Amino acid sequence: MTQSIRKVVFPVAGLGTRFLPATKASPKEMLPVVDKPLIQYAVEEALDAGMKQLIFITSVSKRSIADHFDKNAELEAELEQRGKKALLETVQKIVPDNVSCIYIRQPEPLGLGHAVLCAKPVVGDESFAVILPDDLINGGEKGCLKQLIGVNEQQGFGVLAVEKVVKEETNQYGIIGSNPLFDRVSKISDIVEKPAPEDAPSNLAVVGRYVLPGKIFHFLENTPRGAGDEIQLTDAIATLLQSDSMLAYEFKGKRYDCGSKLGYLQATVEYALEHEELSDGFKRYLQTLCPTLS
Ligand code: UTP
Repeated sequence: MTQSIRKVVFPVAGLGTRFLPATKASPKEMLPVVDKPLIQYAVEEALDAGMKQLIFITSVSKRSIADHFDKNAELEAELEQRGKKALLETVQKIVPDNVSCIYIRQPEPLGLGHAVLCAKPVVGDESFAVILPDDLINGGEKGCLKQLIGVNEQQGFGVLAVEKVVKEETNQYGIIGSNPLFDRVSKISDIVEKPAPEDAPSNLAVVGRYVLPGKIFHFLENTPRGAGDEIQLTDAIATLLQSDSMLAYEFKGKRYDCGSKLGYLQATVEYALEHEELSDGFKRYLQTLCPTLS
């Protein structure tokens, strides 16, 4: 029997340089896609997967993330007084009472691996999940993390979400080598951070969802700076692979790289097209720009 995973880490301490100047004073994770910030989509995916402790790895300019999940008594009183019941529920029900939010500061942006390591005092030696909120994933009926947890519960190993990318883009991702096991699941043999297309072991890229054993902290503590002079999670996973099995899972759904401007715009358009209130009007507007749109 594997132990149920209830802790999820959101590393949100990156500088977000690709979105400057928007991210000079406000976090990339607070950029809204239609009417919800990226971090809220990530939290909703985690809650849907049964997570009970939400651990945010933050930095000095990320205070608004904690504010977003905190109670705003003044706003609630105002909405109540104006009789805006639906809006009141929207701002009240983001995180249920039986779920806790924990904020840990990453003192310097030393890389994703270092950010994850900052969660060690809270996670301990349990298995845990990681969500990178700038990878927005529309998993349809079953969120991406829930799919990953399902594989972990069945197989008992750590699992990384992967997707096929075009060969020319391998240098933007952690890329795995793997042996297929069954539908969508393979056993990872190798993992390399941002390899040149000619050196990549495959075109299967790791995206921002992970289920990791607590043991990873030991390897992170001993991982020197790697690509981009940062402590890379990929390098610690590569060391872990020497002693432990890890699985890759080709998730069902569509990912938007909201850390890039193009991916963010794609997400905005597609989420608006699916939005209850906006869909019809937005479609009509797009048709005026592009008359052949059906
Ligand atoms: P990115 O590689 O997207 O870096 O980090 P970034 O700083 O957020 O954005 P750019 O590239 O400068 O535009 C991937 C994830 O790891 C987190 C980021 O917040 C993001 O969720 N991260 C990265 C940290 O928490 N700490 C770090 O030191 C680095």
